[in-house]
Amino acid sequence: MSNELKAARKPRTLAEPFRIKMVEPLKMTDEKYRLEKLKEAGYNTFLLNSEDVYIDFLTDSGTGAMSDRQWAGIMMGDESYAGARSWLRLEQVVKEMTGMPYVLPTHQGRAAERILYGILGGKDKVFLSNTHFDTTRANIEFTGARAFDLMSPENTDPKTDLPFKGNIDLNQLKEKINEYGADAIAAVVMTVTNNSSGGQPVSMENVRAVREICNQYGIMLVLDGCRIAENSYFIRHREEGYKDVSYKAIAKEMFDMADAFVMSAKKDGLANMGGLLVLRDEALSRKCINMLIISEGFTTYGGLSGRDMEALAAGLEEVFDDGYLHYRIKSTAYLGEGLRAKGVPVVWPIGGHAVYIDAGELYSEIPKDEYPGQALVCDLYVSGGVRSVEVGSVMFGKYDESGKLITAPRELVRLAIPRRVYTQSHVDYVLDVFDDILANRNRTRGLKITYEPPFLRHFTSRFEWL
Ligand code: F0G
Repeated sequence: MSNELKAARKPRTLAEPFRIKMVEPLKMTDEKYRLEKLKEAGYNTFLLNSEDVYIDFLTDSGTGAMSDRQWAGIMMGDESYAGARSWLRLEQVVKEMTGMPYVLPTHQGRAAERILYGILGGKDKVFLSNTHFDTTRANIEFTGARAFDLMSPENTDPKTDLPFKGNIDLNQLKEKINEYGADAIAAVVMTVTNNSSGGQPVSMENVRAVREICNQYGIMLVLDGCRIAENSYFIRHREEGYKDVSYKAIAKEMFDMADAFVMSAKKDGLANMGGLLVLRDEALSRKCINMLIISEGFTTYGGLSGRDMEALAAGLEEVFDDGYLHYRIKSTAYLGEGLRAKGVPVVWPIGGHAVYIDAGELYSEIPKDEYPGQALVCDLYVSGGVRSVEVGSVMFGKYDESGKLITAPRELVRLAIPRRVYTQSHVDYVLDVFDDILANRNRTRGLKITYEPPFLRHFTSRFEWL
């Protein structure tokens, strides 16, 4: 085709790079039914049964669809206790991907975190991160250590249009090291992509600078890289000098700078269950192996069955595929850009695995202590059977000594996209649901909590409309 013709052609539909071989039927419900189910669930979407959900955007974790190759691998799983063929395959894939010699399989990401941070942490220890994911923070704080998130204001502002809003703030990093002293810093943890800040990517330049600072002070650098392939996509397309570098090579360059890698394989592992703890240091790996054997399982299976390891080994290969990653990032952007075009305030630019809506702005009439994010979560479910999660004052709210709610800095709602599960017409349907949300946006009151547990309250709290 001539260049003029190419230039004149309108962009084509973002078609899925797979076809469907097996289907999972979904129950179609109406608003009256969903209203009833939501009431029964105490207006908490975590307490709904999944069969009453049409589009499940609760999380991208463990919810992906596996490929025919992964399913074939499942049939080939070697379930031997020690030295299984499936383990050897997984170990080989992970060693090649990371260049790190010690691979420990765990049942999911937080088990890897518990083992590593249980050893590195303890009273008087400090961890520094772009943003600790909730389970990361919980595992660190459980040891008595402290965890600080070090983001710059322009990166946490939902409106600034910057390419790498997942980056750590280097000035704050140096300040904190000097404040506590290098000996107290157990590790710097880079979360890639930065889930809690909107699935925003981290640049290679930022990690390189962090590495230099860690070298200068003798501090360990851990990569929480459960979305490392998605991050590699952003680097190739946004960072100078990576246009012609393969996604795998970009990830490898980042691994080369890290001392350890923790992964929830339920994301870019394209597996439904699994985790990894990968280390460069032999002495540390010995300590971790002891904990692995005590709490997860023998070194050649950890918390996984042979078939899980087969599926994960195949998933880690597939996730770096050019066609897959293009579709993955562009399809997330398709939802986010579609919402923005309708006037829905979203965290910008759109991240890799999820779209974050600024419910504080969308439902600005609802006071923050009446949880505007939870109100939107409820409306999305009743209106369209769409399940999302509040990432605001329900999740992060705390009480002061007088029992008054200290609200979260932002009232967000996350629409996390499972990998390879929904087609573009599902996403178009969600965009249609938002037309109704926008047309009926007349709420002035939100919800009150009628029950809450002392920890991680968003999972089991119950609500009532005010
Ligand atoms: N680190 C990050 C950055 C994560 O996003 C998660 C999980 C974990 C660690 C823990 O991994 O669930 O396998 O134990 N994130 C999920 C989410 C739960 O919905 O974002 P896990």
